[in-house]
Amino acid sequence: MKIKLIDFTIMGDERGSLIALEENHNVPFDVKRVYYIFGTKKDVRRGYHAHRDLKQLAICTSGSCKFLLDDGQNKQHIELNSPTHGLLIEGLVWREMYDFSEDCVLMVLADNYYTANDYIRDYEQFLQEVAYDS
Ligand code: TYD
Repeated sequence: MKIKLIDFTIMGDERGSLIALEENHNVPFDVKRVYYIFGTKKDVRRGYHAHRDLKQLAICTSGSCKFLLDDGQNKQHIELNSPTHGLLIEGLVWREMYDFSEDCVLMVLADNYYTANDYIRDYEQFLQEVAYDS
């Protein structure tokens, strides 16, 4: 599955911590877009899509949430609960996000602008595209 956890270097001192994200350094792509999900209601599950051609780096800058990641063959659950690491998702990966804590701020960096055509929102269609891809 084309996913990877990236640990960020913390610039910490007696005042606290700081993390810098830099395009093509610790963020392994050109950053065209940043969005963040917050104020997610209890028991909400969102996502339910895959991207045809998009690199994304998801960082829980506050609180926690979980990802279900599915490449059509294997499923994996990952919890993001620290601003010190990011989840890189590339390729055809179906994702669902759930168990958002009340204080969760999920920030996502992406290598392209929002493009509705890039979304696969139907799971059967996703499986077909995975089969065609391999
Ligand atoms: P949606 O795709 O439903 O979020 P998710 O799949 O992550 O749960 O996005 C919610 C709305 O926001 C939808 O109308 C599309 C819009 N949107 C943008 O305009 N730009 C963006 O970068 C994103 C991610 C969503």
